[in-house]
Amino acid sequence: MKIAVFSDSHAYGGHSSWNAFFDKRAIGLLNYLYVRKHRHKQELLGKMVSKIIETKPDVVICTGDVSTSGELSEFDIACKYLKPLVENENFDMFYVPGNHDCYVEDEKCLKALKETFSYLNRGKLKLEDMPKSLIIKGISFCFVNVCKPSNLFLSTAVMSKQNSDYILRWAETETKMPKILVDHYPLIEKHTFIRCRHRLYGEKEVLSALKNKKIDLSVCGHVHHPTAKIDDRGRGEIVAGSITANRSFALIEYSEKDDKFEYSKISVN
Ligand SMILES: [Fe+2]
Ligand SMILES: [Fe+2]
Repeated sequence: MKIAVFSDSHAYGGHSSWNAFFDKRAIGLLNYLYVRKHRHKQELLGKMVSKIIETKPDVVICTGDVSTSGELSEFDIACKYLKPLVENENFDMFYVPGNHDCYVEDEKCLKALKETFSYLNRGKLKLEDMPKSLIIKGISFCFVNVCKPSNLFLSTAVMSKQNSDYILRWAETETKMPKILVDHYPLIEKHTFIRCRHRLYGEKEVLSALKNKKIDLSVCGHVHHPTAKIDDRGRGEIVAGSITANRSFALIEYSEKDDKFEYSKISVN
């Protein structure tokens, strides 16, 4: 069983209306002009699509932040690049939103997010039905969305009680199948002062379930540098990293015989 995970492509496509200059999207624009424009190369997303198809995965997962400020134009760019994955019937495909995909309360942006969510999940999941657990080819997955529009200067999110209770119920289910949690935010993080503006809050109980091996693996994005905090059986957390900034995605292979996950960082050039 092969799972390809990519994240944080951060397309930028310009604003759809004048009111974008009076909400958080103005911050997104400045961030793009001074930082992201120089770091994120969208063409890598196209190259990644071909490379993922070459690796013959069983499941492809995007862990969010396909946009910069949740604009329709940005979702359009992402969906165009990802179309060959969405339309490839040789594997399943799933997407959970990132904080940049849920950037503002603007009605048009929320509609674009819902449509993108449905498109990238091939109509199998609806945003309003999250969280959702699904068994795919012998692995139990739990897909969670913790992202909501937040304060102008924050990139934080909160694990709601509803999300946490759902995940813990799923984690406690008796099964021999391995369990993979899919969310945008990492659970295992050093909470230094600088991360206070970027981290997930309310995660403690779910993090305990991961540490106690009630959850085998957490896969996520948000942090743009790829990391794998895993033990010798591949249990722990894998951060896919930003495909467009760090030129790589994660490939996770599960061997049922050895009950082991193998992680590889696949480079895209
Ligand atoms: Fe990101
Ligand atoms: Fe993020």
